[in-house]
Amino acid sequence: MKLARSLMFGAALALTSTPVLADSYLNTSIAFTQQAELEQADTVVVLVPADTERLDVPGLTRATREHLERVMRVSEFDGSAGSVLDVMAPADSQADRIVLLGVGEVSTLSRTDAEKAGASLAAHLADTSAETVVVDTQMINAASNPALLIANIAHGVDLRNYRFDRYQSEPAERPQQNFTWRATEQAEGEYNRLNGLAEGVFLARELVNIAPSDSAPMAFIERVRHLEDMGVEITVLGPEQVREMGMGALYGVGQASRDGAHMLALQWRGSDDAPLALVGKGNTFDTGGINVKSSGGMRSMKTDSAGGAAVVGAIKALAMQNAAINVVGVVPLTQNMISRDSQLPSDVVTTGSGITVEINNTDAEGRLILSDGLWYARSQFEPRAMVDIATLTGAKVGAVGTDYSAIFSDDERILETLKSAGDAVDELVWQLPMHENYMASIRSDVADLINGGSPGASAGAMFLREFAGDTPWAHIDMAGNALISSPNGIHPAGATGYGVRLLTEWVYQYSAQQ
Ligand code: BES
Ligand code: ZN
Ligand code: MN
Repeated sequence: MKLARSLMFGAALALTSTPVLADSYLNTSIAFTQQAELEQADTVVVLVPADTERLDVPGLTRATREHLERVMRVSEFDGSAGSVLDVMAPADSQADRIVLLGVGEVSTLSRTDAEKAGASLAAHLADTSAETVVVDTQMINAASNPALLIANIAHGVDLRNYRFDRYQSEPAERPQQNFTWRATEQAEGEYNRLNGLAEGVFLARELVNIAPSDSAPMAFIERVRHLEDMGVEITVLGPEQVREMGMGALYGVGQASRDGAHMLALQWRGSDDAPLALVGKGNTFDTGGINVKSSGGMRSMKTDSAGGAAVVGAIKALAMQNAAINVVGVVPLTQNMISRDSQLPSDVVTTGSGITVEINNTDAEGRLILSDGLWYARSQFEPRAMVDIATLTGAKVGAVGTDYSAIFSDDERILETLKSAGDAVDELVWQLPMHENYMASIRSDVADLINGGSPGASAGAMFLREFAGDTPWAHIDMAGNALISSPNGIHPAGATGYGVRLLTEWVYQYSAQQ
């Protein structure tokens, strides 16, 4: 069987001693109980709403409380969301420090501001010797849903605490931090649900952070295999099967690489409805091919499977959350390489859908592999709607930068739910146009289409639209959003896992809107 061949190569892949997956990306434990005693903690954290003057924390002595209130006044601590006031060796307390964490106006605090407050706590505690942390939540009871608010903050702590240090021979030391939240079982339930999302984000970050030779197509597939244990059905096509099915565009981009092109499909069958399909660009490295990139342009190209990573992460999150939704992830996998087998400019390939494509530029490989990804998703799974996500064009970065991704669609319902999902999770999207006039620039003289055209980001979208058929569809160009060089909010430096939160939220919102 072709699949067995894939597995064999996967097992023999030990280029480095890097394990398939880290045991854990966090160095924390977490518990929820109303009864936690402050005496056990070396660090007490208190959630403090905006403009609090009097602290109400069960278990603090009067002397400690008055000391803290005085420090709050003197330092003009206003409890704004994410602000931190660290009071060391507080009078009349066993704790080494009492950390006041501002949570702003609790009645209106958004999910993402709560997460960012948690992230700011994590960043602060990382610079301390905190090991046993008790978090008091008494003062946020004015929130409409205190349990959810607490869970969002704890989730933000985790997202920021993620570390990827597996290539370092002497990683920075991190004492194990044990958190106990003074909170209900309900908060614990909400946290466990969000933990599924965090695991999805961590998987996507992993797939992008890892050295590109350790996540070439077959290694990428091995890193996703564990989703089977969660009830996800996985299908893998090797290069020969890709070619036999007629997916010449995908095959061609992979033909110069050791692993060749693969198609990875994942299905979480949480309901009997027709599925939603997520299609992610899985180009595990982009040299540009024969139209080789410059040194500078190639530097960030280990991020070129970030769309595929986002899809895989979203499927993992939905599976861990046991979502009552039928959803399919499709990831065409390649490594865009240079060899004597490379595709050449002016070559013509035939896609699975039968549409022929002239190669204008071997560096516009994303739309080639996605054209077959979209066709495969459509023809194999008959989805009711389909969204693709890709690090597709530098032109997108020029147009909207990296605070947004660019979205393209003719379908109002998908556009609306994508925008609303983006706002909800702070992965913002901005719509760019698809104008019929742009079609001329992607028509070829020798074939049906050509992989070039302008304006750059829109031409990519117009090209992909030809492969969506009648299925309601949108394209997300996330170029530039996969990697950051310094920590920001819920993201440590490195891979952001961009798209997992957006896609997961979109799947829920689109399904809820029947
Ligand atoms: N993977 C790149 C796009 C990219 C650029 C992602 C910057 C992240 C940051 C894509 O495959 C590519 O090379 N696109 C070309 C297309 C062009 C040749 C039509 C580009 O944008 O230059
Ligand atoms: Zn690319
Ligand atoms: Mn490219």
